[in-house]
Amino acid sequence: MFMLKLEELRKEYKSFLGKKKIIAVDKIDLEVQPGEIVGFLGPNGAGKTTTIKMICGLVNPTKGQVLIDGYDIKNERKKALKKIGVVLEGSRNIYWRLSPYENLRYFGNIRGMRTKQIKTKIDKLLHFFNLYERKNDLTQKLSRGMQQKVAISVALVTSPLLLLLDEPVLGLDPHSSNELQERIIKIAKEEGKTIIIATHQMDVAQKVCDRIAIINKGKIVVCDTVKKLLNLLEAQHYEFRIEGSLNSECKDKLSKISHLEINEDGIETLISINIINSSLLYDIINLLKSEGVNIIEIRKQEVNLEKLYFQIVPERK
Ligand SMILES: Nc1ncnc2c1ncn2[C@@H]1O[C@H](COP(=O)(O)OP(=O)(O)OP(=O)(O)O)[C@@H](O)[C@H]1O
Ligand SMILES: [Mg+2]
Repeated sequence: MFMLKLEELRKEYKSFLGKKKIIAVDKIDLEVQPGEIVGFLGPNGAGKTTTIKMICGLVNPTKGQVLIDGYDIKNERKKALKKIGVVLEGSRNIYWRLSPYENLRYFGNIRGMRTKQIKTKIDKLLHFFNLYERKNDLTQKLSRGMQQKVAISVALVTSPLLLLLDEPVLGLDPHSSNELQERIIKIAKEEGKTIIIATHQMDVAQKVCDRIAIINKGKIVVCDTVKKLLNLLEAQHYEFRIEGSLNSECKDKLSKISHLEINEDGIETLISINIINSSLLYDIINLLKSEGVNIIEIRKQEVNLEKLYFQIVPERK
């Protein structure tokens, strides 16, 4: 069974004056296996936080269904919520005026854990997140990275199966961010938790997630493993370095084959071209040959998620 299933999930908000509809999430379908880390990657306002809030029952969907380990968050709310731990943006799930230890004990208690059970769990979490030495300090006096780790510990205290993290490493320095990313991977791989991470940091998504759903304007544009997303891209970006410059007729013919960018310096020309189908590569080579162009080099561009992201999520005008 899927740990998380979203079916045609949609959320409409009314605008400030109530005249216009804002579609924050538009027909999202997703199935997540136990132990998987899935990233929601997308620009500001894409609908990532709204989707997370619908999954954990903070926001009611306008349409569609959320199933957590088979339980419907709407009709079987209590059972579904037992499976979830959530950390929203800004670690708002913890008390700043309590210590990490007190936060963990308090939230363990109100969620019905027994004292002895809580103690063992707290010690384990404090050690796992390297917080043990600071367990009695006020949370507000800890660094941002530590506060975020306290927030995630609190979300994990009741041993939920599904962990939802909204922008977990935002604003952390590279070392704290790396440390936290490694912990998140460990939580999934060693403890079998299913994790959903919303982020607009591509490097984070690429490092941490098994699968990435790129979300734009409330829709999942593409959802696949990082490897497949990168393969998709690899077949698409080429650079041709040629001698001299191209005449306008040749440029026209090339741009009919595929989208391209041309940079000329009078001596050489660099053509960057997106190729959807690899046979088009031969069409380009043949065209350049028939035009008598001297090709100096053909290079497949280096692949990273950023290129794919910019291809899929166009810049806002
Ligand atoms: N309570 C609300 N009332 C009205 N509109 C809202 C509300 N919450 C979110 N929205 C709108 O829904 C859309 C999606 O917002 P959401 O916060 O889910 O995006 P996001 O992907 O999390 O963005 P970010 O990367 O900035 O956190 C935006 O247009 C936002 O303005
Ligand atoms: Mg958000």
